Amino acid sequence: MPSEFLVRTVTGLEDLTAAEITEAGHRVVDVTKRQLVVEAAGPIVTRLADDLFAVHASVPDPGRTKAGLWQAVARLTAHLAPDSPISVTASFTGARNFSRYDIEDAVGARLGVPYFSRRHGAPPPPGTADLRVTLDGKAMWLGVRPHAVPLHRRAWRKATVVGSLHPPVAAAMARLADIRPGHVVFDPCCGAGTLLIEAKHLEPGASYRGDDIDPVAIRAARLNDPAIAWRTGAGKPDRILANPPWGVRLPVAEDLSKRWPEAGRLVAILGEGQRLDRRWTTVGEYPLSVAGRRVRIVVALIGK
Ligand SMILES: C[S@@+](CC[C@H](N)C(=O)[O-])C[C@H]1O[C@@H](n2cnc3c(N)ncnc32)[C@H](O)[C@@H]1O
Repeated sequence: MPSEFLVRTVTGLEDLTAAEITEAGHRVVDVTKRQLVVEAAGPIVTRLADDLFAVHASVPDPGRTKAGLWQAVARLTAHLAPDSPISVTASFTGARNFSRYDIEDAVGARLGVPYFSRRHGAPPPPGTADLRVTLDGKAMWLGVRPHAVPLHRRAWRKATVVGSLHPPVAAAMARLADIRPGHVVFDPCCGAGTLLIEAKHLEPGASYRGDDIDPVAIRAARLNDPAIAWRTGAGKPDRILANPPWGVRLPVAEDLSKRWPEAGRLVAILGEGQRLDRRWTTVGEYPLSVAGRRVRIVVALIGK
């Protein structure tokens, strides 16, 4: 099994993902936008990463031109001989004279097996192996996903609501909440339950309570984890995890947070212009980009 991996993550979560992976005993050898290069000490288990690919090859980043791209692709794919149909997903940093689809088609054309282009938006058929190509300004990487589905897809997720959180973002928030065994953790606008369910995976020894104004959301949350106490009051929580609707304009959002109980620590994900009420002192902020929106994770304590 190859020991070098590309770990893909959400813009803004690179350092938190690197910390999670380092704590698990692996070596993070490079961090660029949305990507870590990791020397694995064994199987990598991560909840913060979007996905993970075993490195097949890397060559120096070819720069801007199409001619450079084609030469780099020839070297990158020289020893790759897939035995099943493939699709390719590519991404790059910086300005280029080619698109991601030009990269994908250049790689796909060289492999001698059926290739499904993503250029026209149709998903590849089941059973297609997905290759990942990234250009990070220093190197051009070719990786192969060692598992069938992307890591961010969670087996527990049976239902979502409008605005359901990307699970790796929820996992990052849970990590920042510093939840200990015995803690009571409350989500005042739980939606389909992503925050508490991800937190429970991280610390199964705490107890989790969620509430939401919308009964449809509570039904979705119950489907996703029937064992958590949904539609229940907060009691006296030790931690609050919150994802209020980003579209809500102030002062409504501030009023919303005023109804949340006091707790030792609050971790919220807020949209542009949203802020917590004055009881909370912000001790950490993590700007990130989720579904094309600039949001931030805020870690706050009560008082000073
Ligand atoms: C962005 S969604 C939460 C999504 C959730 N984190 C998930 O992953 O599914 C915001 C939720 O806040 C709920 N909400 C809006 N106003 C509320 C209020 N005043 N009290 C409680 N919940 C509220 C909405 O019904 C919605 O489910």
